[in-house]
Amino acid sequence: MKLDGNTILITGGSMGIGLALAERFTKLGNTVIVCGRREERLKEAERKVPGLNTFVCDISKDEDRRRLVKWVKENFPKINVLVNNAGVQLKVDLRKGMEGLAGDNEIEINLKACIYMSAELIPLLSANGEAAILNVSSGLGIVPMAMYPIYSATKAGVRSYTKTLRHQLKDTPIKVFDIIPPLVHDTELHGGRPMERSAGSVSAAELADAVIEGLKENRYEIAAGPAKNWLSMASNTQLESVFSNMNK
Ligand SMILES: NC(=O)c1ccc[n+]([C@@H]2O[C@H](COP(=O)([O-])OP(=O)(O)OC[C@H]3O[C@@H](n4cnc5c(N)ncnc54)[C@H](OP(=O)(O)O)[C@@H]3O)[C@@H](O)[C@H]2O)c1
Repeated sequence: MKLDGNTILITGGSMGIGLALAERFTKLGNTVIVCGRREERLKEAERKVPGLNTFVCDISKDEDRRRLVKWVKENFPKINVLVNNAGVQLKVDLRKGMEGLAGDNEIEINLKACIYMSAELIPLLSANGEAAILNVSSGLGIVPMAMYPIYSATKAGVRSYTKTLRHQLKDTPIKVFDIIPPLVHDTELHGGRPMERSAGSVSAAELADAVIEGLKENRYEIAAGPAKNWLSMASNTQLESVFSNMNK
């Protein structure tokens, strides 16, 4: 994928991984737009990344997604890259039944928004020359963590969806990438605050560097840290040939 001169929309780019990607892409000479629910966090992001364009919206709501897409089409008609990054992660005790599912809707934010944003933008992306969709999944989409059952299921869903999307778009100008982070310690995903660095973690900046390297090489599954080993363990040539046969 070319790394400059793009117009890039990153969902959930006001902080964490999305913001680290926004910083890298802006420095490389791209026009970058980020969205998020909290205006004050978007204002902070504008201060950190001069030239960043921001939009307040809740990506889990149909109406907000449509408002975002309309605004992008009107103001950034050259958009050629979509990064589906917004996500939330909740500890869920399945023994509590429905009570355990209260809180942010992980399915709407992590999975449905990724599918719907792609669907909304595919026609415009294909019309804008060389284009790309980057979906941020997770190492927990390969190996689920029982404490985060819904989150892990949504990330396995993002991985599966990304694979079929790549297959369906293979004859279009849109390249489809799966970004597979391991634990990223310095974001707010884990209960709203950063964690200590650990042997199994990387920083958002390190992940963003790995993503840029992977995009440069057109590596369609980009993992970092321990997630690289998990990805290579999950990669199976026999299953790949089943996939190819099934999707001839
Ligand atoms: N950190 C990790 O260890 C890790 C590991 C693997 C994968 N990931 C994935 O990486 C992505 C980014 O996570 P992160 O660690 O950077 O988390 P983060 O620091 O919590 O940032 C999440 C971003 O998404 C936005 N967001 C959340 N819900 C939204 C919604 N409904 N509508 C619009 N924006 C929304 C947040 O802004 P507002 O809250 O203001 O809306 C924020 O900008 C997620 O998909 C996550 O699952 C993270």
